[in-house]
This record gives sequence, structure tokens and C-alpha cells, in this order.
Amino acid sequence: MVKILIAYESKYGNTKLVAEKITEGMKKVRGLKPDVCEIKEVDLGSLQKYDVIMIGSPNHIGGPTRGVRKFIDALGKQGLEGKVFAAFDTYLGGDFEKAVKKLEKRIAEKIPGAEVLSPGLSVRVRGMKGPVSEEGLAKAVEFGRMIAAKLKNR
Ligand SMILES: Cc1cc2nc3c(=O)[nH]c(=O)nc-3n(C[C@H](O)[C@H](O)[C@H](O)COP(=O)(O)O)c2cc1C
Repeated sequence: MVKILIAYESKYGNTKLVAEKITEGMKKVRGLKPDVCEIKEVDLGSLQKYDVIMIGSPNHIGGPTRGVRKFIDALGKQGLEGKVFAAFDTYLGGDFEKAVKKLEKRIAEKIPGAEVLSPGLSVRVRGMKGPVSEEGLAKAVEFGRMIAAKLKNR
């Protein structure tokens, strides 16, 4: 059983919805156990039990939120060598993949021994407070399914 944590921050609920859609896609593949959690609720001491940690953030001023950046820095002190990571963002306008690329870079820099599954997912919202675009929801389900299939076949 591959254990996966999907941790996200979400001001208006859109990144949360994307996290849930990724989970929905993962559940299409047997043999995986995804947990979804807001980063502020994550018990850092419990992370060892996960094989895979996915981190999601809304794009705030061209990158991940301060809370998510601090969360990644905190993960760097948890001894997570060899764990697999993947990232996702939500954005408005022309910032496709901008935050997710920064997330991936920070994970690689701050978490010793992290293996980053790239490219991550970048989902457009239709307004500051959402909603998530229809194609974005479908992309999130497919991303979850694809990551799950990849992990299962290792
Ligand atoms: C303070 C703030 C700054 C933002 N800056 C950007 C930005 O630079 N580029 C962008 O594409 N979207 C930006 N946005 C829009 C967010 O990406 C959008 O609100 C978010 O995807 C919604 O997700 P959430 O409901 O999970 O918070 C910003 C939003 C806020 C609140």
C-alpha cells in the first residue's frame, strides 16, 4: 500500500477542491491510500509514515504562499530522505506553472534527498475567488490517476 499525503493551503477553497479532485483520480487506482489535509493541520511528526507527499498552493504574487514556503522549510528538518514529492498550484491569468515550478525548486533545495516527480499540475481559476475552470477539474482528476499509476508500477 502506497501512502500519500496531499497537503495544501487554500484561501478561497479552490486549491482545496483541486486537492480533492487529485484524490478522486488516485482512488481510481487500487493499492494507494491518499490522505488530504490543510498544511496548518499537518502533524510534522507523522510524516514518516508517508511514501509520497504532494504539496499544493495558490499562486500569490507569482509564487507559493508564505505558509507553504515555511511548510517546505519545516519538512526539510524532518529526515524525509528518499520520499517522493509532487506539487500543484492554482493561478489566475497568465501565471501558468509559475508557482508550481517554484514549489518544485524549493522542495529540491530545502528537503535533503527528496525525489520530485515533475512536471507538477497547474490549474487556472476564473477569478480571484474562483471557480476552478472545468478543464482544470478534469486535469486534476487525471493528474491524480496518472501519478497513482506511476507510483504503483514502480
Ligand atoms: C494576495 C494574492 C495574490 C495573488 N497573486 C497572483 C499572481 O501573482 N498570479 C496569479 O496568477 N494569481 C494570483 N492570485 C490569484 C490566486 O492564485 C487565486 O486567488 C487562487 O488560485 C485561488 O485559490 P484558493 O481558493 O485556493 O485560495 C493572487 C491571489 C491573492 C489572494
